[in-house]
Amino acid sequence: KKVIFSGVQPSGKMTLGNYLGALRNWTKLQKDYECFFSMVNMHAITVPQDPKVLRRQTIELLAQFIACGIEPDLNTIFVQSHVHEHAELNWVLCTTTYMGELNRMTQYKDKSQKSEANLNAGLFTYPVLMAADILLYQADLVPVGDDQKQHLELARDLATRFNNRFGDTFVVPEGYYPKETARVMSLQDPTKKMSKSDSNPKGFILLAEDADSTAKKIKSAVTDSVGIVRYTDEQPGLKNLINIYSAMTDKSVEEVVAMYEGKGYGAFKGEMAEAVVETLRPIREKYAYLLDNQDYLEKIYRSGAEKAQLVAAKTLADVYDKIGFIR
Ligand code: TYM
Repeated sequence: KKVIFSGVQPSGKMTLGNYLGALRNWTKLQKDYECFFSMVNMHAITVPQDPKVLRRQTIELLAQFIACGIEPDLNTIFVQSHVHEHAELNWVLCTTTYMGELNRMTQYKDKSQKSEANLNAGLFTYPVLMAADILLYQADLVPVGDDQKQHLELARDLATRFNNRFGDTFVVPEGYYPKETARVMSLQDPTKKMSKSDSNPKGFILLAEDADSTAKKIKSAVTDSVGIVRYTDEQPGLKNLINIYSAMTDKSVEEVVAMYEGKGYGAFKGEMAEAVVETLRPIREKYAYLLDNQDYLEKIYRSGAEKAQLVAAKTLADVYDKIGFIR
């Protein structure tokens, strides 16, 4: 079986962007691949986190994975910091990464402009740790949203560079992106991606959000004054809504557009709100149920860490041999 690795930061609750950009593909691929899914808490601490909240959010994230349909019996689900090989391979890869490569990372540039007070080295080397995550499991495929493309390119470059210098060691991973929802945009500003750290909560929808609030956010989403439901770059707000609507109902974009021929935005948004709420309902209910079963969640991440470590340790031992560390 081919291998998949992907991760989400436990830095808040998951948004519709996380779901449609990544998790939904995970659920589709889980039967055909050997999958490793991680709550990447080591990445999360590149911005300040309250320790209590971080611990809680890590478990909540696991519950959200499962609520979305990730099956614990089919996959290896684990907490990144439980497998110390991530930190170790990160270090080795840091010594093969050029400063210039990291300087070019747009996510670092964005984040460092926003938070000069917390320009820590971890934020800078973040993509190297991400490469370590992926390469440790010899992943063939990495299902993520568009915003991770540049990081994934770096992982490919680092794998190729290491293989060329020390001999075949790593599988060179490929990105796997959804067709229409690789970049779900903010409901309030369709030029910005939907993000859980948006200061305006009307811009994002959380998976665990209640029905009323979800519907309200959809109904107050920013569109335009054209008034016709069309799928075009000239109506970016509407285009984003159509993409979400289509993905959440498994209808094609064309079908969704056809449903609203001759109708206005009011009808479109009203029915869309209902459809999104109905799709999220079972996820929200399962999530609430899982939170009441902490022992079950703990079993999953404990056994996940054991399974993950077997694979990670093997890769790391090979790397250490190749670079000349004594066994
Ligand atoms: P994170 O935690 O920011 O996001 C998790 C996943 O959600 C996707 N995503 C989106 N997709 C579409 N539209 C959006 N608005 C949107 N917002 C987020 C992200 O692309 C991602 O797939 N660096 C990663 C975590 C990570 C990782 C890895 C991923 C660490 N190591 C190894 C893959 C492989 C991150 O910060 O994702």
